[in-house]
Order: sequence, then C-alpha cells, then structure tokens
Amino acid sequence: MAKVLLGVCGGIAAYKAPELARLLRKAGHAVDVVLTEAATRLVAPAALAAVTGRPVRVSMWEGLESGAMDHIALAAEAEAIVVAPATADLLARAAAGRASDLLSACLLVTRAPVLLAPAMNSRMWDHPFTRRNAAVLSELPNVRWVGPESGELACGWEGPGRMSEPAAIAAAVERLWKRDLDGRRLLVTAGPTYEPLDPVRFLGNRSSGRMGQALAEAAARRGARVTLLRGPSALPAPAADVELVPFETALDLRRELLARWRQCDAVLMAAAVADYRPRTFSTEKLKRGVGDVSLALAPNPDLLAELGRRRGASRTPLLVGFCVETRHLAAAARAKLRAKRCDWIVANLARDALGLETTKVEVHRARGKPLGPFEGSKSAVADALLDALAPLLRR
Ligand code: CTP
Repeated sequence: MAKVLLGVCGGIAAYKAPELARLLRKAGHAVDVVLTEAATRLVAPAALAAVTGRPVRVSMWEGLESGAMDHIALAAEAEAIVVAPATADLLARAAAGRASDLLSACLLVTRAPVLLAPAMNSRMWDHPFTRRNAAVLSELPNVRWVGPESGELACGWEGPGRMSEPAAIAAAVERLWKRDLDGRRLLVTAGPTYEPLDPVRFLGNRSSGRMGQALAEAAARRGARVTLLRGPSALPAPAADVELVPFETALDLRRELLARWRQCDAVLMAAAVADYRPRTFSTEKLKRGVGDVSLALAPNPDLLAELGRRRGASRTPLLVGFCVETRHLAAAARAKLRAKRCDWIVANLARDALGLETTKVEVHRARGKPLGPFEGSKSAVADALLDALAPLLRR
C-alpha cells in the first residue's frame, strides 16, 4: 500500500484513467488525482473522485487562500507518480523543467519513481523534439516508461502512440518498487562486434544493443550491481547505476568477460558476436583493385560456449544466451542450449526485433518447459525476463 499520485493529461486515452485509478485502489494504494485543464474536457473529475474516494485537483491555486501549498505537499508525499496518458506537451513541459501547471510542478518536486504512459499521434511520438524530450527524461534516475504500444490510434492512424492498457500500467506501477535483485551481481553484454579490416573499415552487424541495455537498466533498477559490456552503439549512455565498459571486437569482449564472469551471479549474453574476423588487419587503407576480391576470415572463439565449458558442472554463474534467427527458432534455440551448455536461450526472429524498439522473445531452458512468448517494448520484455530469472538468482 502506497501513496500514488495519478496525473492525467488531455489525450483521448484520458477516458481510461478511472479504470486505472480503480485498479490502483484495488491494489491497496491511496490514489490522489491531478488533472490538467485539458484533461477535464475528456474525463469527468467527479468520476475520478468517486473511484478514488478523494478530492481531485486541477489547479495550482486551489486551497492557496487557506495557506496550503498543495503542489509541494502532494508531490512530496507521493511514493510514486503515474502520468497516464502523458501527452507530447506534458513530456515537453517535464523535460524543460516547467512548473506552469499543477502536474508539471509536481513532477519537478518529486524524487519518487515517476511512471510515464505516453499517448499521442505517432508523428508526434516520432518527432525529433519528442524523441529528445523522452531522452532527457530517461536520464533522470527516477523516470520509467510503460508503452506506448503500436496499433490503431484514436485519430485513425496506425503506429506507435497508443497508451498501454490500464492493467499493464498498474502492473508497471508495482514494478517501480521491486528490489528483488538486491545484492546480486550481473554481467550483461550488448550490441554488435566490429571486426576491423583496415583503419576505416570493419565487418559488423545490425544489432543495436537495445535489448542488452534494457536488461542492464532493468536489473540495476531492481537492485542488482550491473556491468554492461557494450559494443559500438548509437544508444545513449545507460542509466547512471549501470557500469558501462565499451568493447569493439569479439576478442576484446572475451578479455572483458574473462576478467569478470566468475564474480557474477549471472551472465546475460545479448551481444551479437561475430563468428569470424578478417584474418589479417591492414594498417594502411585497402585500395580498390580489379575484379572480385575474397576475404580470408578466421573463426572467433564462441564466448558463451567457452563460459559454459569453463563453468563445467557448477550452475553458477547462470548463463543466458540470446539468438536471432530467420526461421526454425525453437530448434535452433534448443541446439544452442546444448552446444553452449547454458541455462537459457532467449530466442527471437529477426523480423520481430532487429533494429526495432519492440521485441517478441521465447525462452528455451536447459531444465523446464519453454517460457513466453514475451512481447512489447524491450524494457517491458527485460522486466518479464528478470521476473522469471530472479527466483533462480536468489537460490
Ligand atoms: N556467441 C558468443 N560467441 C560467438 C558467437 C555467439 O558468445 N562467437 C553468443 C551470443 O552472444 C549469443 C549466443 O552465443 O548469446 C548465440 O549467438 P548466435 O550468433 O545465434 O550463435 P552462433 O553459435 O554463432 O550460431 P549461428 O551459427 O546461428 O550464428
């Protein structure tokens, strides 16, 4: 049971706010609601007051005559703030540190976890300004996201921008306080390897590093000490509580892994490691010749298989591999489980994840039936995977 402040902005999805408030109440929380002026046009404050059993606030000026500093007290006492729907305008105000209305003022006051459930037209969500605002907000240690989902939008468009369902938002609220990985140490690898040919060229792959980074950040939020070994990536730095160690080649990654893996409770190998590297590195830029050229490639070590071998019969650390396939997903995952002697293979089809912000994975296990599929934003899938992993790490 906690004090939750529910902020509602003026997006069509505001009509779902009473249902969310009801679910939060049902979970045992005391729910205070702050509506923006625009939200009052889409959802009746009386409906929210009835569901929460508490007064609903809209303006910064209410109660001021009696000497109450409502926005400070409201925000300071909240153990979490949930904004659903969070419109493009609210994200812009929050990212700019504005306090021009009661809700944005509360966001500036609070240090409690803030859960944002965006809802807007997909063009607005994809706009560079909204991308920038979301990135700025993500840098705050207390900000988390749920959604938006892709699908049919109220405006008739298709695409990302639909608010997550109230049940998914309520579940994300419960995760805000979860510290089930306290005291655990995790090593996560992410991103591609770059295998250099000459000073200006390399062999690489399309991995973005998003899944591994989402796992690292989710695990750190849940209390784990996390080191992220990350290949070349366009992603922003991970959350401050994740230690970032960059690498380029498979052999660099091997060195970083071997220096750390024994001290960890789990190694999550989300990196897309090149199986081959150019046999020779030219210190001078290679020049164009005539006709075909062939490249001699030397095999890279299979790093996960090496950890599996070195670990032998002991079950620690837990080893989790990832595989991306274009077909025969389950069969490939099971073959890799055996070949690499790891505990889990998290498998997905290239078309469901590569380069996307969302993913769909299934988990194949050395012991037990497959889990999943888990589907959604990479951060939601990371939390679902950690939900299944946490009990194994506590043993
Ligand atoms: N992996 C690794 N070292 C390699 C290649 C892969 O540690 N040289 C790890 C990856 O990080 C991933 C898992 O093994 O966790 C599966 O990667 P994948 O590329 O699918 O496996 P491969 O054994 O290379 O199989 P494929 O023949 O399908 O490429």
